[in-house]
Amino acid sequence: MNILVLTAHPNLKASLVNRVWFDALSDVAGITTRDLMAVGGREMKFDPEVEQALLRNADRVVLQFPFYWYSSPPVLKAWLDQVLLAGFAYGPGGNQLNGKELVLAVSTGGPVESYRTGAFNNFSMSEFLTPFRQTALITGMTYLPPFVLHSAMSQDQIRIGGSVPALIAHLTGQQPEANAKLAG
Ligand SMILES: Cc1cc2nc3c(=O)[nH]c(=O)nc-3n(C[C@H](O)[C@H](O)[C@H](O)COP(=O)(O)O)c2cc1C
Repeated sequence: MNILVLTAHPNLKASLVNRVWFDALSDVAGITTRDLMAVGGREMKFDPEVEQALLRNADRVVLQFPFYWYSSPPVLKAWLDQVLLAGFAYGPGGNQLNGKELVLAVSTGGPVESYRTGAFNNFSMSEFLTPFRQTALITGMTYLPPFVLHSAMSQDQIRIGGSVPALIAHLTGQQPEANAKLAG
């Protein structure tokens, strides 16, 4: 299986969690990692043909990012807007992503217990991630359960490193699809 990991962090060098994940995933056979800020630069400009060719070659696409204001950093939005074009991802003839899998790998500062009704963040991660899930559905992709690491700001290097085996197992393993049910 070809796995394409698109990492969206405004400053991967200064990152604690996502840099460790990026470096570890870069060493896994069958995984291609891509630092979107390094590719798109400060202007976040992408060549859709290059990005689309990478997508065509992938069986599973991973969107990896720190949770910023209940969504992704802007470079991922820029990439989505410039790459998932009509005739490729949707609309007439836009079936190039059909049958591929989409999975998110997200780190959050907030602790797990803050992501529920009545708590600090009021909504579940599944609810916050709904636009990504619908993006998978509209493009004919299978949305797999996300990998979420909470309390990322209080993680020390040992605990961050400890998340790596579970991350790799999650991203490379066979997973029940989440299209039919909301993941928690
Ligand atoms: C601009 C900004 C917005 C953030 N918004 C959220 C948020 O909405 N929810 C949350 O749980 N954490 C939030 N955080 C914390 C980040 O998710 C956390 O710092 C990140 O996951 C750590 O990963 P890193 O070490 O790879 O940067 C935010 C951080 C920044 C800088």
